Amino acid sequence: MTPAGASLLDRLAAIEGEGLAAIGEAADSAALESARVEYLGRNGRLADVMSLIGTVEARARRDVGQRANAVKTVLRGALEARAKALESATRGPSARIDLTLPARGRWVGGVHPVTRVIDEICEIFAELGFTSVLGPEIESTWYNFTALNIPLDHPAADMMDTFYLDKDVVLRTHTSPVQARVMETFRPPVRVVVPGLAYRRDSFDPSHAPAFEQIEGLAVDEGVDFVEFRAAIEHFVHHFFGRGTKSRFRPSFYPFTEPSAEVDVSCAVCAGGGCSTCKRTGWITIMGSGMVDPAVFKAVGYDPERYTGYAFGMGPARIAMVRHGIPDMRLLYEGEMSFLQQFT
Ligand code: DAH
Repeated sequence: MTPAGASLLDRLAAIEGEGLAAIGEAADSAALESARVEYLGRNGRLADVMSLIGTVEARARRDVGQRANAVKTVLRGALEARAKALESATRGPSARIDLTLPARGRWVGGVHPVTRVIDEICEIFAELGFTSVLGPEIESTWYNFTALNIPLDHPAADMMDTFYLDKDVVLRTHTSPVQARVMETFRPPVRVVVPGLAYRRDSFDPSHAPAFEQIEGLAVDEGVDFVEFRAAIEHFVHHFFGRGTKSRFRPSFYPFTEPSAEVDVSCAVCAGGGCSTCKRTGWITIMGSGMVDPAVFKAVGYDPERYTGYAFGMGPARIAMVRHGIPDMRLLYEGEMSFLQQFT
């Protein structure tokens, strides 16, 4: 090889070594760009050498040309790799945060609308001296039916409505059995509210659920009469639904109360004018109630000559539906966040 060819190969070796060093040391994209211009640019050091290839004697020309192309490939590869490394370095954790994006908002938990109804009802009755108590969800037929003056052949005890776990054991169909448990345990005066789940063999539909909350109430003492009963319910209605809400007692029947009444409140949605929530009647039934039947007192060992009392039972899910104008009970039990979030 002639001295001209040999000196070009030396220069290519130097370009390769120095170029790789310059690229490797480039601390930012500007430094990298100037290394690129210096070594691979149109008037750069590699282009210089390439422009001289024509002056090399024919025999050596091929070697020098191949070597020049190889150096070019090596430096291009190094440039690309360095550019990538610099890019991911500048995209550190802080560089990845786009401050122009709208904030995602924190998830804030809330109290379920049915739970809120239960809490408020218990609080309102607490003002009247009622204590909140709980009872078992798995219950004997004695407490669920017999002690409440419901014969086992009564339709309410029927297999159609009741989940039987055993011959004498059921999932309670209402919270009323806790009345009997409380009276068995405590002497009068008794004033309790009992929130809890009840179970019935109903399928989920817009107004039924197989497991649903109830709140039971019971007040027993000497001299408790219908006037106190009405006053307590009216106090509750005014505090829960608002002062302007009217209530009325409608005669009804329950085996454990005599007389029995259903309590209706004036429809808040249409103010009594008639709408779909109140089925055009202007009234919404919120509870069953009545004066405790003497047969229940006898079953729990209270003297029916001495004591009188009233009891009531209501469904907080139904009340939440009335309060918020919710058309389908299943919405309250499906746990759909997009629905529930509106109540937080
Ligand atoms: N236990 C009844 C039910 O589940 C509700 C009820 C009605 C409870 C009248 C009472 C009452 O305490 O006096 O339908």
